[in-house]
Amino acid sequence: MTETLPRPTLNAEGFKRALAVHAAGVVVITAQTDGVPAGLTATSFSSVSLDPPLVSFYVDQSSTTWPSLREADHFAVNVLASDQADIAARFARRGVDRFADPTRWRPGPLGAPLLDDVAAHLICLPYETVGVGDHLLVVGLVAEAEVRAPGRPLLYHQGRFGRFIAHP
Ligand SMILES: Cc1cc2nc3c(=O)[nH]c(=O)nc-3n(C[C@H](O)[C@H](O)[C@H](O)COP(=O)(O)O)c2cc1C
Repeated sequence: MTETLPRPTLNAEGFKRALAVHAAGVVVITAQTDGVPAGLTATSFSSVSLDPPLVSFYVDQSSTTWPSLREADHFAVNVLASDQADIAARFARRGVDRFADPTRWRPGPLGAPLLDDVAAHLICLPYETVGVGDHLLVVGLVAEAEVRAPGRPLLYHQGRFGRFIAHP
């Protein structure tokens, strides 16, 4: 007997409401092109492969930052710490210099900006980019990783930033 699939009744609001229930860590992807830093906030960051060490994120095809990130020969993933909600909001805002004061950062070993006081950062080489729906899947090969504050990640859940509390 063939099972019939339920008729798709999902609307955009229902889709967003369901996704908002999924808590996610928050990263800022940064790169430097022709001496100009660029970066954006993302919750779509994920680990992909151990060997080779791959990570990924999805970027909206309409992102005005993506063209700069795409030109760079490497990028950094800054994993935000629990007290960095302001940084997350700033790197999602258009029309501001995201790297201006009070953002604190320094150029990393290969040039990509590293944000101060993050939980960890990864330096990645572009590995693969694939168009998926209205986003691009960006896969990076991790060349370097530094853990600084592993115990206090910033989380995003139902439109709000928060912290992780472990079970006793
Ligand atoms: C918590 C949070 C998570 C986000 N995650 C993503 C993401 O995974 N991918 C993405 O393309 N945009 C994401 N955004 C939106 C971008 O940060 C923002 O829309 C974008 O930087 C707008 O500016 P742009 O044109 O410079 O890209 C997120 C925003 C917030 C506040």
